Amino acid sequence: MSEKIKSRFGATAEDCLASIPPWRKRLTAFRMDLAYFKRYRMEIDLRDRVLAPVAPLPPYRLLAWDPVLIEGFAVAKFVSFRYELDAHVFPCLGDLTGCRRLMHEIARKPGFLPETTWLIACPTATGGLEYVGTIQGIRDREGHGAIQNLGVAPNHRNAGLGSLLLTWALDGFRRAGLTCVQLEVTAQNEGAIRLYRRFGFSVVRTVFKAAEPAYA
Ligand SMILES: CC(C)(COP(=O)(O)OP(=O)(O)OC[C@H]1O[C@@H](n2cnc3c(N)ncnc32)[C@H](O)[C@@H]1OP(=O)(O)O)[C@@H](O)C(=O)NCCC(=O)NCCS
Repeated sequence: MSEKIKSRFGATAEDCLASIPPWRKRLTAFRMDLAYFKRYRMEIDLRDRVLAPVAPLPPYRLLAWDPVLIEGFAVAKFVSFRYELDAHVFPCLGDLTGCRRLMHEIARKPGFLPETTWLIACPTATGGLEYVGTIQGIRDREGHGAIQNLGVAPNHRNAGLGSLLLTWALDGFRRAGLTCVQLEVTAQNEGAIRLYRRFGFSVVRTVFKAAEPAYA
């Protein structure tokens, strides 16, 4: 079972054990039946960074956080993550109910930062709005900014929307008085890592996230 998981998605418990120093192994309980995903914690120092948030090109619209839009945020999260690796790492990202629950949890957190939380909408042919991208941010217990989920729906990628959302979120962290912003990204998510590095994020730590094989 663990070999199958490894070949498709991530690291096995054995890989994790091999990668950590002996002194930490005593402090770590591993379950051999779980899949372990290698993830990077990345960080950016916003001091001296030039951020120039701009409006998206038509037909896209950028919407600021508003509690009445929470369903739109959940839908954008779902359509962005449902077929992605992170839906195996965090199964709630793979279904709409899970994304709704997650959005409510984020919005209720004491450190939730509305100014870092954005939604991209695109008009549909029938006069409605399709929600195609989102980012959310909080202030964590250590007082750092923490990006929760950045996602853009597959049909709308490679058009600058991910970069645009990240720029607006980082600008929001700065307006909230934060200079250090962190995020976690799965090591195999090369496109996202490239995007973060381009902005000036660097890896500060490697962590492993366990996930039930049922989802792997
Ligand atoms: C990671 C993610 C958010 C990037 O979103 P995106 O909207 O495609 O991001 P951008 O368009 O700003 O940048 C992506 C690429 O398009 C390029 N690009 C940007 N604007 C462009 C444009 N107008 N025309 C063509 N290409 C463009 C960028 O240079 C970048 O190139 P690269 O892949 O070689 O680095 C998106 O792939 C995604 O949602 N993935 C699934 C969810 C996920 O894994 N999120 C990250 C969790 S940590």
